Amino acid sequence: MDISTLSKNQAVQDTFPINGTDFIEFYVGNAKQTSLFYQHCFGFELIAYKGPETGSRDVVSYVLKQGKIRFVITSALDPNHEILSHVALHGDGVKVLALWVDDAEEAYYKALQRGAESAFEPFTAEDQYGSVKMAAIKTYGETIHTLVERSNYKGAFLPGYVSKSSPVKINPLGFKYVDHCVGNVELGQMNKWVQFYEDVMGFKLLVTFDDKDISTDYTALMSKVVSNGNGFIKFPINEPAAGKKKSQIEEYLDFYKSAGVQHIAIATDDIVHTVESLRNNGIEFLYVPDNYYETVLDRVGTIKEDINELKRMNILVDRDEEGYLLQIFTKPIQDRPTVFFEIIERHGAKSFGKGNFKALFEAIEREQELRGTL
Ligand code: FE2
Repeated sequence: MDISTLSKNQAVQDTFPINGTDFIEFYVGNAKQTSLFYQHCFGFELIAYKGPETGSRDVVSYVLKQGKIRFVITSALDPNHEILSHVALHGDGVKVLALWVDDAEEAYYKALQRGAESAFEPFTAEDQYGSVKMAAIKTYGETIHTLVERSNYKGAFLPGYVSKSSPVKINPLGFKYVDHCVGNVELGQMNKWVQFYEDVMGFKLLVTFDDKDISTDYTALMSKVVSNGNGFIKFPINEPAAGKKKSQIEEYLDFYKSAGVQHIAIATDDIVHTVESLRNNGIEFLYVPDNYYETVLDRVGTIKEDINELKRMNILVDRDEEGYLLQIFTKPIQDRPTVFFEIIERHGAKSFGKGNFKALFEAIEREQELRGTL
C-alpha cells in the first residue's frame, strides 16, 4: 500500500488559479426528460434554458442548480449533430467538467504550452448581462475541460441562455458542492492522465491506491487522486487491474466505449436526510449487507450520527487521521452501467473511503452478476 496525503501543507503550484467547478455538462438523448429527472428525483432547480424558442436551432440545454452545483443537460435536434454522435457512441454521459478560472485565455494558452490539446479556442460570448470568456482543453476519452471566466457576467448562466424556472415547486435535497469527479481510463493509462494533470494543470498527486487496496476475490482496480492547490478540484483516476473476473472499470469501458467520467461525488451536510429523500424519489443505491454495521464502529470509533439511522439508509462510514466521512453510491443513473453518483458527508476526513472499498466492490459485483458482465 502506498499512501501519501499532501492535504495539510500542499503548496499552491497550479498552472493557473481554479476557483471551483463551474458546471458539469451531460450529453443525453432527451434533455427535456433528463432535466425533469434531475429536478424531481435529485432536487435541482431549473435556472436557465436555451433551445429553438431562444434562437438555438440545433441544440437544447437545461441548466440546473442546487447549492453551488450547476448541471447542464444538453441534447441536439439534428441527427447529424456531433452531440448525438456522442450519445450514440457513449450513451448519456458527462461531456464537460468546466472549471471556473480568473483568466480563460491565459489559462488556455498556459495549458497548451504545457502539452494540453485544444478542444476549442478562446472566444467571448456577450449579451445584455455582460460577457463570458471561454476556451477548452481535452482530457481523457472525449471529455473536455471548459475554462470559464465569468467575472463580467450577471446573467442566469451564459450568454445565449434565458432565465427559466422549474414548472413546479422543487424540494432541494441538501446538495452543497461537487466534492470530486472520478474518471475511468483504459488499462495502462492511469499514470499518463495523472501526469497530464501534474504537468499541464500543476496538480499534485494526493493519494494512490493499488490493486491490494482495491480488490475482492474476483476483481481489482487501481486509482490515483490528483488535486489542485486549494483542494476545490479533486480528480481520482481509475484503471482496471488484473483479476479473476471482469472489473467494474472494464464493464464501464465496455459500455461507455472509451474513457470517461465514472462518478460525481456530491457533498451534503445531512446525508441521512439527503439519502432518505433520494430513496423516496425512486433513486436506487448499492446495497451493503447488514453485517457491515456489526463491526463498523469498532473500525471507525465514535461518530455523531445514530448508527441505526445509517444502517436504515445503508450509509457507509470510514475514518482517516483527520476525521471521518459518511458515503453512499447510487446505481448507474442511465440505461448503460456507466455514470453514477456518490453522496458524501465529511467530518474532517479528506480521504475517499478506503475502508469501504471491499464492501462496495462486492456490492458492485452483485450488480454486475445480474447484468451478466462479471
Ligand atoms: Fe468517490
